[in-house]
Amino acid sequence: MKNIRLNNGYEIPEIGLGTFRLTPDEAEHAVEFALKSGYRHIDTANVYMNEKAVGRGIKKSGVPREEIFLTSKVFPGYFKKIPQVVQDTLKRLDVEYLDLFLLHQPYGDIQKAWQDLEKEVEAGRIRSIGVSNFSEKDIDKLLTYAKIKPVLNQVECHPYHHQDALREHHQKLGIEIEAWYPLGSMNKDLMNEPLWEELSKKYNKSKVQIILRWHLQKGNILIPGTRKEDHILANKDIYDFELTQEEMDLIAQMDKGKKFLGWPHFLGKILIPMLRFNFDKQK
Ligand SMILES: NC(=O)c1ccc[n+]([C@@H]2O[C@H](COP(=O)([O-])OP(=O)(O)OC[C@H]3O[C@@H](n4cnc5c(N)ncnc54)[C@H](OP(=O)(O)O)[C@@H]3O)[C@@H](O)[C@H]2O)c1
Repeated sequence: MKNIRLNNGYEIPEIGLGTFRLTPDEAEHAVEFALKSGYRHIDTANVYMNEKAVGRGIKKSGVPREEIFLTSKVFPGYFKKIPQVVQDTLKRLDVEYLDLFLLHQPYGDIQKAWQDLEKEVEAGRIRSIGVSNFSEKDIDKLLTYAKIKPVLNQVECHPYHHQDALREHHQKLGIEIEAWYPLGSMNKDLMNEPLWEELSKKYNKSKVQIILRWHLQKGNILIPGTRKEDHILANKDIYDFELTQEEMDLIAQMDKGKKFLGWPHFLGKILIPMLRFNFDKQK
């Protein structure tokens, strides 16, 4: 698995394991199995309610902490309490530091959260900081006061939503795109696109592997989510073939700018910062 060098010099493995919607038992097992089978990058979030399980999976894998790139995220309702949030997150994950901590949504007191995260970086509790679901405008605003530039923006990205304008904007700034929903969460229309069948036969790879390969060739960091051992293995087995430029061009025509998940901006702005969770209740 290859690494991508971030704008602060740290390296991130370009494929990680996503853990959204994994129960604690599923997350614990998937993380342990993924690390034992060569993954070195795990993505979780405070609101996935599985950080304790992710921490157990890391311990059970026996892989040294310093070999693992571990990401978590803070939700807007907690942006005003960053020092406490970081302390609690580290405790749940049972680790001394986070490789990457993201502002999960572009709502709430972003400036305060970012400036407090910068202090956490200075204190050594977090190595890199970034954002998720930010638009070009959100990033430009953040850069007016940021001392530390975000290393990446984790956004919905799949063959129905290429994020090319955002990618172009970020490239100039040295900010990476990390794709969430890299498989469009297995949306039926997307998976039934006839091109996948054709390419699947040509390369003797599954439809999922074709899509994940497309992400790598776009330059995305990707974190496919799965609870299954055979899928964990398949999702990293994409280095022995390469899509041609003509095939990349055909996939380019699929872009509909279609989001499968998200809030209308005005609703998100009001509702998301109000959400609270009982993080201590997780298994
Ligand atoms: N920042 C954000 O706002 C945000 C939002 C959503 C997600 N995320 C992150 O992004 C990660 C990826 O997104 P996601 O998990 O929601 O969607 P996804 O990766 O697009 O799709 C996950 C689905 O694909 C299936 N799958 C995975 N590998 C497969 C394979 N090789 N063959 C067949 N099916 C396969 C999984 O089922 P099985 O379990 O059966 O394999 C699951 O149903 C998340 O886990 C999370 O870490 C971030």
